Amino acid sequence: MILERKQRFNVPEIRSRMEQVSAELGTETFHGAQIVQYAELEQVYSGAMREISTKLENLDDEFQLRDRHNPIHHMECRLKSIGSTIGKLRKRGLPLSVESVRENLFDIAGIRVICNYEQDVYKVADTLSEQSDIEVIRVKDYIAHPKPNGYRSLHVIYSVPVFLTDGPHPTPVEVQFRTIAMDYWASLEHRLRYKNDMEDSDRERHVATLRECAKELSRIEATMQAIHNEIGAGEA
Ligand code: GTP
Ligand code: MG
Repeated sequence: MILERKQRFNVPEIRSRMEQVSAELGTETFHGAQIVQYAELEQVYSGAMREISTKLENLDDEFQLRDRHNPIHHMECRLKSIGSTIGKLRKRGLPLSVESVRENLFDIAGIRVICNYEQDVYKVADTLSEQSDIEVIRVKDYIAHPKPNGYRSLHVIYSVPVFLTDGPHPTPVEVQFRTIAMDYWASLEHRLRYKNDMEDSDRERHVATLRECAKELSRIEATMQAIHNEIGAGEA
């Protein structure tokens, strides 16, 4: 059993994170009443993330019982950091306010759902999308249409109601569904993207190789999925 310490939302802690970000980025952050609003925003988005991840765990359990196969290998949840949130508002030339975060950024709450096979990705995503209390806001299917660099994943933005004392707050959560192989590829590509001390020619070579790796992984996954389907589900 994993016991996770529950995240506490408090204004002084958020104020100190804001000051740290302000010093690091050398930029304005949120002030005064906006800090209280930001704490409220984090609390609601964290609730939304919990609502969606519970739905996913329930579906995984049901599939396990029904098909003797867990479609979900594991999940990772994260709230976007204040630094990344402010950086994104600035990059897009959006106003620096909590209102602007609510209206323009849909990836404050993010869940990565790592599945075993590609067919599990669609099975879980489609079943979740059909649930009556949530709404699908946007779908980007980079599995059917990989990015030119080879990136594959299914991105869905859901809106889920979080019930507070004053009623429901519909809140967006970005869910990235992908297989273990897609995740493994994306982690390496991400590291390459953020590696600064590299010759341009080396980078280009690695980018080209990664593009080929993505295609090969896609072929291997299809072959392995066919074996999985043929031998039938087991206890795993
Ligand atoms: P941003 O959120 O500003 O990136 O724009 P967007 O919401 O239009 O982007 P999109 O939904 O395409 O992708 C958002 C997230 O998907 C990123 O933050 C990454 O986590 C992941 N992602 C997208 N493209 C790539 C890629 O080429 N490589 C890797 N490693 N991850 C990617
Ligand atoms: Mg995004």
